[in-house]
Amino acid sequence: MSVDDGLQVLDMFKHPALLVHQEEPLNAGTPPELARQSFITPQVHFFVRNHGSVPRVSEYRYFLSVTGMVGSPLKLSLPELKEEFGASTVIAALQCAGHRRSELAAIEPIPGEIPWSAEAIGNALWTGVPLREVLLAAGIQGEAKHVAFTGFDEISRGGEHFGFGGSIPLEKALEPEVLLAYEMNGESLPPLHGFPLRVVVPGYVGARSVKWLANIHVQEQPSTNYFQRKAYKLFPPDVLPEVADWEQGKMLGDLPLNSLICQPREGETFASGPVTISGYAITGEGYLVERVELSIDGGATWTETSFLARAHPWAWRFWSATLDLRPGHYQIMVRAWDSSGRTQPEEMGQVWNWKGYLNHAWHRVNVFVK
Ligand code: MTE
Repeated sequence: MSVDDGLQVLDMFKHPALLVHQEEPLNAGTPPELARQSFITPQVHFFVRNHGSVPRVSEYRYFLSVTGMVGSPLKLSLPELKEEFGASTVIAALQCAGHRRSELAAIEPIPGEIPWSAEAIGNALWTGVPLREVLLAAGIQGEAKHVAFTGFDEISRGGEHFGFGGSIPLEKALEPEVLLAYEMNGESLPPLHGFPLRVVVPGYVGARSVKWLANIHVQEQPSTNYFQRKAYKLFPPDVLPEVADWEQGKMLGDLPLNSLICQPREGETFASGPVTISGYAITGEGYLVERVELSIDGGATWTETSFLARAHPWAWRFWSATLDLRPGHYQIMVRAWDSSGRTQPEEMGQVWNWKGYLNHAWHRVNVFVK
């Protein structure tokens, strides 16, 4: 492969500290203590969630097609996209629906799914063209209600081969924060994260941020792609796989309010005295994280933490607190509150589901003080 033919060299470098669940397709997560080191997650630390192999997409032969219920279908090269539409930058966390699945699996096994612990999240600066600009240029027809995306990767399921896909409601697609991104942290989007173009849907589960974007289709119904119609659906805790009716599952969209203790880690031992507890909180739907609290007495009393910076609507928010701990065993628990007054559910059993999605119950870490 020569650079002249415009194919991006597949630079697969990731930091060796990443927890690799699968080599091919690559699925690797950011350890929480590494994630908490930097408000903007460097590309090499950013978690990777792939359902198929990374496609090699030629920058020069690349075209994005916009089809479906539009007045004028579009076919845009990368330079056309950049020249014809203004650029916008958004700081947004990207979180996989399976983030914190391993805690749910500890209650009741969740076979066949990647056992992510708290490592399928990162926060980046995304630059690209607002999706709304492209949709408005194509002209949306009256009956349209959803915007579907398909990637260039090839996935095989049940003998069929297709590109990864999903959709979002038209209402969300027209919000200014939803981008067709070609840069991540001020650099060209790397192949692992969707070069040359990906969708970034702030506040939504990562699955809707389709990488290696090939097509945008405006339609009346949600996407019929396997990853919208079947996978990434939420069922109540009492529904088990044997009886699950796929049609009844709720298609995942907004992320729930969530918070996590990054340091100390589970099982750590330290000397008595002041101990710094730190972590992050995120919330979907454009609300702000307003308060994060810690409890070491089973939720009877709570200590408010301090934030490191002001809240950004789509980004995570770093917090920390210092607790004076005497010798003993402690279970440290965290919960967040958002600007709509909501907080997180207490027990894992309240959010358990057989696919292990959207675990946002209070996060707990057991530590020992000598
Ligand atoms: N897009 C394509 N084309 N193929 C994929 O496998 N995975 C999705 C989404 N977009 C995926 C995709 C999922 S499940 C997540 S969580 C995010 O990409 C992860 O993005 P990242 O690998 O850049 O962190």
